[in-house]
Amino acid sequence: MGKILLIGAQGQVGQVLHQVLSPLAEVVAVGRSDLDLLESDKIRQVIAATRPEVVINAAAYTAVDKAEAEVEMAYAINGTAPKVIAEAVQELGATLIHLSTDYVFKGDNSVPYLEQDLPGPLGIYGKSKLAGELEVQQGCDRNIILRTAWVYGVYGKGNFVKTMLRLSNERPEVRVVADQVGTPTWAQHIAEAVAHLVQASENTSDDFYGVYHFTNSGVCSWYDFAIAIFEEAHQLALITQKPNVIPITTAEYPTTAQRPSYSVLNNSKIRPLLNDHPPHWRAALRKMLKNLKAQS
Ligand SMILES: NC(=O)c1ccc[n+]([C@@H]2O[C@H](COP(=O)([O-])OP(=O)(O)OC[C@H]3O[C@@H](n4cnc5c(N)ncnc54)[C@H](OP(=O)(O)O)[C@@H]3O)[C@@H](O)[C@H]2O)c1
Repeated sequence: MGKILLIGAQGQVGQVLHQVLSPLAEVVAVGRSDLDLLESDKIRQVIAATRPEVVINAAAYTAVDKAEAEVEMAYAINGTAPKVIAEAVQELGATLIHLSTDYVFKGDNSVPYLEQDLPGPLGIYGKSKLAGELEVQQGCDRNIILRTAWVYGVYGKGNFVKTMLRLSNERPEVRVVADQVGTPTWAQHIAEAVAHLVQASENTSDDFYGVYHFTNSGVCSWYDFAIAIFEEAHQLALITQKPNVIPITTAEYPTTAQRPSYSVLNNSKIRPLLNDHPPHWRAALRKMLKNLKAQS
Protein backbone atom coordinates (compact mmCIF):
# COMPACT_ATOMS: atom_id res chain seq x y z
CA MET A 1 0.00 0.00 0.00
CA GLY A 2 1.30 3.49 -0.84
CA LYS A 3 1.98 6.28 1.62
CA ILE A 4 -1.03 7.55 3.59
CA LEU A 5 -1.43 11.02 5.12
CA LEU A 6 -3.87 10.80 8.02
CA ILE A 7 -5.35 14.15 9.06
CA GLY A 8 -7.19 14.27 12.41
CA ALA A 9 -5.04 11.52 13.89
CA GLN A 10 -5.88 12.47 17.49
CA GLY A 11 -9.67 12.17 17.17
CA GLN A 12 -11.88 9.30 18.26
CA VAL A 13 -11.77 7.65 14.83
CA GLY A 14 -8.36 9.08 13.86
CA GLN A 15 -6.51 7.26 16.64
CA VAL A 16 -7.95 3.89 15.63
CA LEU A 17 -7.28 4.61 11.96
CA HIS A 18 -3.64 5.18 12.86
CA GLN A 19 -3.49 1.80 14.64
CA VAL A 20 -5.32 -0.15 11.93
CA LEU A 21 -3.47 1.37 8.95
CA SER A 22 0.08 1.40 10.36
CA PRO A 23 0.76 -2.31 9.76
CA LEU A 24 -0.54 -1.97 6.18
CA ALA A 25 1.24 1.15 4.92
CA GLU A 26 3.55 4.01 5.74
CA VAL A 27 1.27 6.39 7.65
CA VAL A 28 2.12 10.05 8.23
CA ALA A 29 -0.28 10.98 11.02
CA VAL A 30 -1.02 14.62 11.84
CA GLY A 31 -3.23 15.99 14.62
CA ARG A 32 -4.31 19.51 15.42
CA SER A 33 -0.93 20.28 17.05
CA ASP A 34 0.89 19.46 13.77
CA LEU A 35 -1.67 20.88 11.37
CA ASP A 36 -4.38 23.37 12.26
CA LEU A 37 -7.07 23.13 9.59
CA LEU A 38 -7.74 26.83 9.90
CA GLU A 39 -4.36 27.41 8.18
CA SER A 40 -4.95 26.76 4.48
CA ASP A 41 -1.34 27.37 3.44
CA LYS A 42 -0.11 24.86 6.00
CA ILE A 43 -2.57 22.27 4.67
CA ARG A 44 -1.19 22.75 1.15
CA GLN A 45 2.40 22.63 2.40
CA VAL A 46 1.92 19.42 4.41
CA ILE A 47 0.19 17.60 1.57
CA ALA A 48 2.71 18.74 -1.05
CA ALA A 49 5.69 17.86 1.18
CA THR A 50 4.32 14.45 2.19
CA ARG A 51 3.35 13.39 -1.36
CA PRO A 52 0.94 10.68 -0.19
CA GLU A 53 -0.95 8.27 -2.46
CA VAL A 54 -3.96 8.52 -0.15
CA VAL A 55 -5.10 11.30 2.19
CA ILE A 56 -7.64 10.46 4.88
CA ASN A 57 -9.47 13.34 6.54
CA ALA A 58 -10.79 12.26 9.94
CA ALA A 59 -10.65 15.78 11.41
CA ALA A 60 -13.85 17.73 11.88
CA TYR A 61 -15.71 20.22 14.00
CA THR A 62 -17.97 17.71 15.78
CA ALA A 63 -19.63 19.75 18.56
CA VAL A 64 -23.19 19.48 17.22
CA ASP A 65 -24.85 21.91 19.64
CA LYS A 66 -21.98 24.40 19.91
CA ALA A 67 -21.93 24.66 16.12
CA GLU A 68 -25.25 26.55 16.23
CA ALA A 69 -23.34 29.45 17.85
CA GLU A 70 -19.94 28.89 16.20
CA VAL A 71 -21.22 28.86 12.65
CA GLU A 72 -18.11 30.33 11.01
CA MET A 73 -15.79 27.98 12.83
CA ALA A 74 -17.88 24.94 11.89
CA TYR A 75 -17.89 25.94 8.21
CA ALA A 76 -14.16 26.76 8.28
CA ILE A 77 -13.21 23.29 9.56
CA ASN A 78 -15.95 21.19 7.94
CA GLY A 79 -16.34 23.12 4.66
CA THR A 80 -13.33 25.26 3.76
CA ALA A 81 -10.58 22.93 5.04
CA PRO A 82 -11.90 19.94 3.04
CA LYS A 83 -11.94 22.19 -0.06
CA VAL A 84 -8.27 23.07 0.44
CA ILE A 85 -7.39 19.44 1.16
CA ALA A 86 -9.30 18.25 -1.93
CA GLU A 87 -7.56 20.70 -4.25
CA ALA A 88 -4.12 19.79 -2.89
CA VAL A 89 -4.87 16.08 -3.25
CA GLN A 90 -6.07 16.66 -6.82
CA GLU A 91 -2.77 18.36 -7.70
CA LEU A 92 -0.94 15.18 -6.71
CA GLY A 93 -3.40 12.92 -8.54
CA ALA A 94 -3.90 11.14 -5.22
CA THR A 95 -7.02 9.71 -3.54
CA LEU A 96 -8.95 11.49 -0.78
CA ILE A 97 -11.02 9.57 1.75
CA HIS A 98 -13.17 12.04 3.67
CA LEU A 99 -15.36 11.10 6.65
CA SER A 100 -18.88 12.45 6.87
CA THR A 101 -22.08 11.94 8.78
CA ASP A 102 -25.69 10.76 8.88
CA TYR A 103 -26.54 14.32 10.01
CA VAL A 104 -26.49 15.43 6.35
CA PHE A 105 -29.98 13.86 6.25
CA LYS A 106 -33.19 15.33 7.60
CA GLY A 107 -34.27 12.11 9.30
CA ASP A 108 -37.79 11.86 7.94
CA ASN A 109 -37.22 8.60 6.04
CA SER A 110 -38.75 5.33 7.11
CA VAL A 111 -36.25 3.12 5.27
CA PRO A 112 -32.43 3.30 5.55
CA TYR A 113 -30.85 6.19 3.63
CA LEU A 114 -29.09 5.38 0.37
CA GLU A 115 -25.97 7.26 -0.74
CA GLN A 116 -27.89 9.07 -3.49
CA ASP A 117 -30.80 10.15 -1.29
CA LEU A 118 -31.37 13.86 -1.07
CA PRO A 119 -29.58 15.45 1.89
CA GLY A 120 -31.43 17.93 4.10
CA PRO A 121 -29.38 18.70 7.19
CA LEU A 122 -31.26 20.14 10.16
CA GLY A 123 -28.44 21.99 11.92
CA ILE A 124 -25.20 23.86 11.32
CA TYR A 125 -23.03 20.80 11.96
CA GLY A 126 -24.85 18.77 9.27
CA LYS A 127 -24.98 21.75 6.90
CA SER A 128 -21.25 22.39 7.29
CA LYS A 129 -20.45 18.70 6.77
CA LEU A 130 -22.60 18.68 3.63
CA ALA A 131 -20.73 21.77 2.40
CA GLY A 132 -17.49 19.82 2.94
CA GLU A 133 -18.83 16.84 0.96
CA LEU A 134 -19.63 19.12 -2.00
CA GLU A 135 -16.19 20.76 -1.86
CA VAL A 136 -14.50 17.35 -1.82
CA GLN A 137 -16.56 16.19 -4.80
CA GLN A 138 -15.82 19.35 -6.76
CA GLY A 139 -12.15 19.63 -5.85
CA CYS A 140 -10.85 16.10 -6.28
CA ASP A 141 -11.62 13.43 -8.89
CA ARG A 142 -10.51 10.49 -6.80
CA ASN A 143 -12.68 11.17 -3.78
CA ILE A 144 -14.41 8.79 -1.43
CA ILE A 145 -16.85 10.20 1.10
CA LEU A 146 -17.57 7.75 3.88
CA ARG A 147 -20.66 8.65 5.87
CA THR A 148 -21.01 7.02 9.24
CA ALA A 149 -23.15 7.53 12.36
CA TRP A 150 -23.46 7.33 16.14
CA VAL A 151 -19.73 6.75 16.63
CA TYR A 152 -18.22 5.49 19.87
CA GLY A 153 -14.89 3.98 20.79
CA VAL A 154 -12.21 3.62 23.38
CA TYR A 155 -10.44 6.85 22.42
CA GLY A 156 -11.46 10.46 22.22
CA LYS A 157 -12.91 13.08 24.49
CA GLY A 158 -16.24 11.44 25.09
CA ASN A 159 -19.06 9.49 23.51
CA PHE A 160 -22.42 8.01 24.47
CA VAL A 161 -20.96 4.73 25.76
CA LYS A 162 -18.43 6.45 28.00
CA THR A 163 -21.09 8.86 29.26
CA MET A 164 -23.46 6.01 30.16
CA LEU A 165 -20.67 4.11 31.99
CA ARG A 166 -19.90 7.23 34.01
CA LEU A 167 -23.58 7.86 34.80
CA SER A 168 -23.98 4.29 36.07
CA ASN A 169 -21.69 5.28 38.95
CA GLU A 170 -23.45 8.55 39.63
CA ARG A 171 -27.19 7.92 39.25
CA PRO A 172 -29.72 5.20 40.03
CA GLU A 173 -31.82 6.34 37.06
CA VAL A 174 -31.09 7.82 33.63
CA ARG A 175 -33.57 9.34 31.20
CA VAL A 176 -32.74 8.60 27.56
CA VAL A 177 -34.37 9.65 24.30
CA ALA A 178 -36.37 6.81 22.75
CA ASP A 179 -37.72 8.49 19.60
CA GLN A 180 -34.44 8.90 17.69
CA VAL A 181 -33.22 5.78 15.94
CA GLY A 182 -29.96 4.99 14.19
CA THR A 183 -27.07 2.56 14.35
CA PRO A 184 -24.32 2.79 16.96
CA THR A 185 -21.00 2.28 15.20
CA TRP A 186 -17.68 1.25 16.72
CA ALA A 187 -14.71 3.36 15.61
CA GLN A 188 -12.66 0.16 15.16
CA HIS A 189 -15.06 -1.08 12.47
CA ILE A 190 -15.01 2.30 10.71
CA ALA A 191 -11.21 2.12 10.61
CA GLU A 192 -11.36 -1.42 9.19
CA ALA A 193 -13.83 -0.27 6.53
CA VAL A 194 -11.48 2.59 5.60
CA ALA A 195 -8.61 0.09 5.32
CA HIS A 196 -10.72 -1.93 2.84
CA LEU A 197 -11.40 1.24 0.84
CA VAL A 198 -7.69 2.12 0.76
CA GLN A 199 -6.85 -1.38 -0.46
CA ALA A 200 -9.61 -1.30 -3.07
CA SER A 201 -8.47 2.13 -4.30
CA GLU A 202 -5.13 0.66 -5.40
CA ASN A 203 -6.43 -1.12 -8.47
CA THR A 204 -9.78 0.18 -9.41
CA SER A 205 -11.84 1.94 -12.02
CA ASP A 206 -13.25 5.46 -11.83
CA ASP A 207 -16.74 4.29 -10.85
CA PHE A 208 -15.32 3.07 -7.53
CA TYR A 209 -15.05 6.65 -6.26
CA GLY A 210 -18.00 8.47 -4.66
CA VAL A 211 -20.11 8.30 -1.54
CA TYR A 212 -20.33 5.22 0.69
CA HIS A 213 -22.33 4.58 3.83
CA PHE A 214 -20.82 2.55 6.63
CA THR A 215 -22.28 1.77 10.04
CA ASN A 216 -22.56 -1.38 12.08
CA SER A 217 -25.66 -3.43 11.22
CA GLY A 218 -29.04 -3.18 12.91
CA VAL A 219 -31.13 -0.34 14.27
CA CYS A 220 -31.94 0.95 17.75
CA SER A 221 -32.91 4.04 19.71
CA TRP A 222 -30.61 5.83 22.16
CA TYR A 223 -32.82 4.26 24.88
CA ASP A 224 -32.20 0.72 23.53
CA PHE A 225 -28.51 1.52 23.23
CA ALA A 226 -28.30 2.70 26.85
CA ILE A 227 -29.98 -0.48 28.09
CA ALA A 228 -27.58 -2.63 26.01
CA ILE A 229 -24.56 -0.71 27.36
CA PHE A 230 -25.64 -1.31 30.97
CA GLU A 231 -26.46 -4.99 30.36
CA GLU A 232 -23.20 -5.76 28.57
CA ALA A 233 -21.05 -3.69 30.92
CA HIS A 234 -22.65 -5.31 33.97
CA GLN A 235 -22.05 -8.80 32.57
CA LEU A 236 -18.39 -7.90 32.12
CA ALA A 237 -18.27 -6.43 35.65
CA LEU A 238 -17.26 -3.08 34.19
CA ILE A 239 -20.03 -1.47 36.25
CA THR A 240 -21.42 -2.53 39.58
CA GLN A 241 -25.00 -1.37 39.13
CA LYS A 242 -27.39 -1.07 36.22
CA PRO A 243 -29.32 2.20 36.44
CA ASN A 244 -33.01 2.18 35.68
CA VAL A 245 -33.42 3.55 32.13
CA ILE A 246 -36.48 5.75 31.56
CA PRO A 247 -37.53 6.35 27.94
CA ILE A 248 -38.23 10.00 27.12
CA THR A 249 -39.11 11.94 23.99
CA THR A 250 -36.88 14.39 22.13
CA ALA A 251 -39.24 17.15 23.28
CA GLU A 252 -38.48 16.24 26.90
CA TYR A 253 -34.72 16.62 26.27
CA PRO A 254 -34.35 19.86 24.33
CA THR A 255 -30.97 20.50 22.69
CA THR A 256 -29.68 23.56 20.87
CA ALA A 257 -29.38 21.69 17.58
CA GLN A 258 -32.20 19.65 16.15
CA ARG A 259 -31.24 16.03 15.42
CA PRO A 260 -32.64 13.65 12.81
CA SER A 261 -35.20 11.27 14.33
CA TYR A 262 -34.37 8.53 11.82
CA SER A 263 -30.77 8.33 10.65
CA VAL A 264 -30.24 4.72 9.62
CA LEU A 265 -27.80 4.39 6.71
CA ASN A 266 -28.12 1.64 4.10
CA ASN A 267 -24.83 -0.31 3.96
CA SER A 268 -25.44 -2.30 0.76
CA LYS A 269 -23.07 -0.37 -1.50
CA ILE A 270 -19.96 -0.91 0.64
CA ARG A 271 -20.76 -4.51 1.53
CA PRO A 272 -19.02 -6.19 -1.49
CA LEU A 273 -15.83 -4.27 -0.66
CA LEU A 274 -15.90 -5.59 2.91
CA ASN A 275 -16.65 -9.16 1.76
CA ASP A 276 -19.18 -9.33 4.59
CA HIS A 277 -22.02 -7.64 6.43
CA PRO A 278 -20.79 -5.10 8.97
CA PRO A 279 -21.02 -6.69 12.44
CA HIS A 280 -24.26 -6.09 14.35
CA TRP A 281 -24.10 -3.04 16.64
CA ARG A 282 -24.63 -5.09 19.79
CA ALA A 283 -21.79 -7.52 18.98
CA ALA A 284 -19.56 -4.52 18.26
CA LEU A 285 -20.53 -2.91 21.57
CA ARG A 286 -19.66 -6.12 23.46
CA LYS A 287 -16.22 -6.22 21.83
CA MET A 288 -15.54 -2.56 22.55
CA LEU A 289 -16.47 -3.02 26.22
CA LYS A 290 -14.20 -6.08 26.43
CA ASN A 291 -11.36 -3.97 25.05
CA LEU A 292 -12.15 -1.25 27.57
CA LYS A 293 -12.09 -3.83 30.36
CA ALA A 294 -8.77 -5.24 29.15
CA GLN A 295 -7.29 -1.75 29.35
CA SER A 296 -8.65 -0.97 32.81
N1 LIG B 1 -18.78 11.24 16.57
C1 LIG B 1 -19.84 10.85 15.90
O1 LIG B 1 -20.83 10.37 16.45
C2 LIG B 1 -19.84 10.92 14.38
C3 LIG B 1 -20.98 10.50 13.70
C4 LIG B 1 -20.99 10.54 12.31
C5 LIG B 1 -19.88 10.99 11.62
N2 LIG B 1 -18.79 11.42 12.30
C6 LIG B 1 -17.66 11.92 11.52
O2 LIG B 1 -16.55 11.08 11.74
C7 LIG B 1 -15.35 11.83 11.66
C8 LIG B 1 -14.49 11.60 12.89
O3 LIG B 1 -15.22 12.03 14.03
P1 LIG B 1 -14.77 11.70 15.51
O4 LIG B 1 -15.91 11.06 16.21
O5 LIG B 1 -13.44 10.99 15.50
O6 LIG B 1 -14.62 13.19 16.07
P2 LIG B 1 -13.57 13.81 17.09
O7 LIG B 1 -13.18 12.81 18.13
O8 LIG B 1 -14.15 15.11 17.51
O9 LIG B 1 -12.29 14.05 16.17
C9 LIG B 1 -12.17 15.13 15.31
C10 LIG B 1 -10.74 15.58 15.35
O10 LIG B 1 -10.62 16.75 14.53
C11 LIG B 1 -9.78 17.65 15.22
N3 LIG B 1 -9.94 19.04 14.83
C12 LIG B 1 -10.95 19.89 15.12
N4 LIG B 1 -10.67 21.13 14.68
C13 LIG B 1 -9.44 21.06 14.11
C14 LIG B 1 -8.59 22.00 13.49
N5 LIG B 1 -8.93 23.30 13.37
N6 LIG B 1 -7.40 21.57 13.02
C15 LIG B 1 -7.03 20.30 13.15
N7 LIG B 1 -7.78 19.35 13.71
C16 LIG B 1 -8.97 19.74 14.21
C17 LIG B 1 -10.16 17.46 16.67
O11 LIG B 1 -9.16 18.02 17.50
P3 LIG B 1 -9.57 18.55 18.96
O12 LIG B 1 -9.95 17.34 19.75
O13 LIG B 1 -8.32 19.22 19.43
O14 LIG B 1 -10.71 19.51 18.76
C18 LIG B 1 -10.25 15.95 16.76
O15 LIG B 1 -9.00 15.37 17.01
C19 LIG B 1 -15.77 13.28 11.43
O16 LIG B 1 -15.75 13.55 10.05
C20 LIG B 1 -17.20 13.31 11.93
O17 LIG B 1 -17.95 14.33 11.28
C21 LIG B 1 -18.73 11.38 13.68
